[in-house]
Amino acid sequence: MALIDPVMLKTRLGALAGRFDVDALDECDSTNSELMRRAERGAPSGTVIVADRQRAGRGRRGRSWLSSPETSLTFSLFWRFPGNASRLSGLSLAVGVALARALNGLGGAGIRLKWPNDVLLARQGEFAKLAGILIELASDRRGTQAIVGIGLNLAAPAEDLPQPAAGLAEAGVVADRHQVLAAILAELAGVHEVFAARGFAALREDWQRFHAWHGLSVQILGEGAAVQGVCLGVDDDGSLLLDTAQGVERIFSGDVSLRRSGNGAAEGEP
Ligand code: ATP
Ligand code: BTN
Repeated sequence: MALIDPVMLKTRLGALAGRFDVDALDECDSTNSELMRRAERGAPSGTVIVADRQRAGRGRRGRSWLSSPETSLTFSLFWRFPGNASRLSGLSLAVGVALARALNGLGGAGIRLKWPNDVLLARQGEFAKLAGILIELASDRRGTQAIVGIGLNLAAPAEDLPQPAAGLAEAGVVADRHQVLAAILAELAGVHEVFAARGFAALREDWQRFHAWHGLSVQILGEGAAVQGVCLGVDDDGSLLLDTAQGVERIFSGDVSLRRSGNGAAEGEP
């Protein structure tokens, strides 16, 4: 039997239970891939796949997401949005707001967001990755289908990773996995509604409130030369604002990596 019991989850979801259709699996390749296949076969908006183990969990740009059943929560939510995919450019930031609100609401201390798709934990002297978001879109004549994939570490992964990683327990959260998943799904339902009606602009202030690197020196690594600047947060459309020697630049593409470049003391530094 899978670690998530859909009946117990429904109890935790209370009045929101009817909005979700949850299937808990022992194993699959990737919850995003499995859910995409089910969406193609007509699964309704609100379908959730949660898996104890992923054989091929994915991050952005073909990277792997590592997880083990006891120490993580890996799931995907299918949601239909009106309009075409170009209206969803800020969705991974909106999902970040839902995650941050949920984890903060469960008593998590030091929950922060990193553009465009990471949840970090601010802890002694560093920021460590707590969760990642992978959104995959497909459009049809009824609108855009979003597969919202979330990998959350309940405890820090045992593997050596290129960037520091952390688990929810380190943030002081003692809730069990059913409470954690229910809290995230509840926030996602609310955030998706606001996003569909008013776009990311309506969630921007909250994103800024959780922003990890506000006012800190960062660099953007992409195909060309690195761009250096001071991170000013995000704009209404979800683009990153960077104060560079040439003035304020907007970074639209999530196909780049954001890294800290200095250690200048600033507000928000752990
Ligand atoms: P960026 O998005 O800025 O390039 P990133 O390192 O966060 O930086 P992503 O593609 O967003 O890159 O996330 C995938 C990365 O997450 C992988 O490179 C891997 O090192 C890391 N990773 C994989 N599994 C975990 C995990 N369980 N916890 C934390 N990090 C992980
Ligand atoms: C990232 O940080 O790059 C995103 C990681 C997203 C991982 C989750 S785990 C559940 C879902 N299924 C996947 O294969 N990926 C996402």
